[in-house]
Amino acid sequence: MCYNVFIGIGGNTYNITPKKPRKIRNEEKMILKELKITNFRNYNNLTISFNPDINIIYGDNGEGKTNLLESIYVLAMTKSHKLLIDNHLINSSSKFARVEGKILDEIMTSNMEVIIEPKKKQLKIDGDYISKINKYITKMSVIIFYPEDLELIKGSPMERRRYLNIQLSQIHPNYLNILNDYNKILKQRNEFLKNYDRNKQSDSNFFDIVTNTLIEKGTKLYQYRENYIKNINQNISDIYYSIMNIKKFNILYKPSINIDDYEKNRISKIFEEELNRNHDSEIKLGITLVGPHRDDFDFMIDNQNLKIYGSQGQQRVAVLSLKLSEIPIFKSYKNSYPILLLDDVFSELDDNKKNNLLKYIVNNIQTFITTTDLKSINQDILKKANIIKIKNGKIMQKGDI
Ligand SMILES: Nc1ncnc2c1ncn2[C@@H]1O[C@H](COP(=O)(O)OP(=O)(O)OP(=O)(O)O)[C@@H](O)[C@H]1O
Ligand SMILES: [Mg+2]
Repeated sequence: MCYNVFIGIGGNTYNITPKKPRKIRNEEKMILKELKITNFRNYNNLTISFNPDINIIYGDNGEGKTNLLESIYVLAMTKSHKLLIDNHLINSSSKFARVEGKILDEIMTSNMEVIIEPKKKQLKIDGDYISKINKYITKMSVIIFYPEDLELIKGSPMERRRYLNIQLSQIHPNYLNILNDYNKILKQRNEFLKNYDRNKQSDSNFFDIVTNTLIEKGTKLYQYRENYIKNINQNISDIYYSIMNIKKFNILYKPSINIDDYEKNRISKIFEEELNRNHDSEIKLGITLVGPHRDDFDFMIDNQNLKIYGSQGQQRVAVLSLKLSEIPIFKSYKNSYPILLLDDVFSELDDNKKNNLLKYIVNNIQTFITTTDLKSINQDILKKANIIKIKNGKIMQKGDI
């Protein structure tokens, strides 16, 4: 289609022929076509191309399967999914680590690059340095499931908040800015509370300003989180059912303030009221007692908390269902399906559940699965998949598998 647009500015008419639109690919999924890693964990130099559908990374314990998935995660998110300092990612006999990847979204190819040095990290897209982290991490979408994810159920509320923050930062370019602003103002408010003199007018004026900013930023965080969990709940129950055959699974958001369904448009008012109600205790303790920094959520089956009543396998599938329920959310916000990284996903699942899971994931998305045992994967999937055997940080040739 070719068309011209005429716009009049100050009496003149300009003829603007729009750039020819880029060719849209039929597939609506993000694809990692090629990965190049240098001095990353137990890898020295590795260049590898991937299948757009299923890639199975297979090998014995300790050979580098998780490290390879981690490098893909770092390429997208600039950090490891594990809570650790970046330096651990650098090969122990090297001075820097680099991960480069060629990704395709529904429109174009991009080259992403993360370079990690002991005190410095550089990010590039198509060769240009990127200084704003939110610009970088919203480019390539990944969802990861890994064994330690069970901590999302068993661990502290901090783990669950960290999870929400990571997910929301990937889909909303502004979320990370708001979160950073909130954390800064929270720190300032807590420091102030420690030395607060309520009889000093200047103190109370400053305190009101800080509190209002906290309410403004915190309300936005509540809205993002509430909406995200609502979207998750639209399909998590069906996913859990299709793997486990158990109905009525949902996530229960527990914001630190009491927002019920009828009061969604009053969040800032309720937040303010709760802060006022806690004012004396806050001064006594010297900390902010309510706000998104104290949020939590629970995994519920039939209104019972999975943390207390769930078996290990049920908990594992619950976290996995949470991750899988993010797929349509990414699609709706970012137009393409994310890349799915599944580390050691089959342990603790019986054969039936493994197959249910595989049936669920093979459509639409590029998937990377690690395993020590190819026998655990059904033949149909093995036939379609690109099987990559890893030994001591190197790829074995096809004939060696
Ligand atoms: N910074 C580093 N430099 C060099 N080697 C590292 C570094 N970090 C980890 N390793 C090595 O990487 C190996 C672990 O790799 P990885 O966790 O990927 O194994 P895996 O194949 O996933 O094993 P499993 O099947 O047990 O999960 C270990 O041998 C470890 O010593
Ligand atoms: Mg591993």
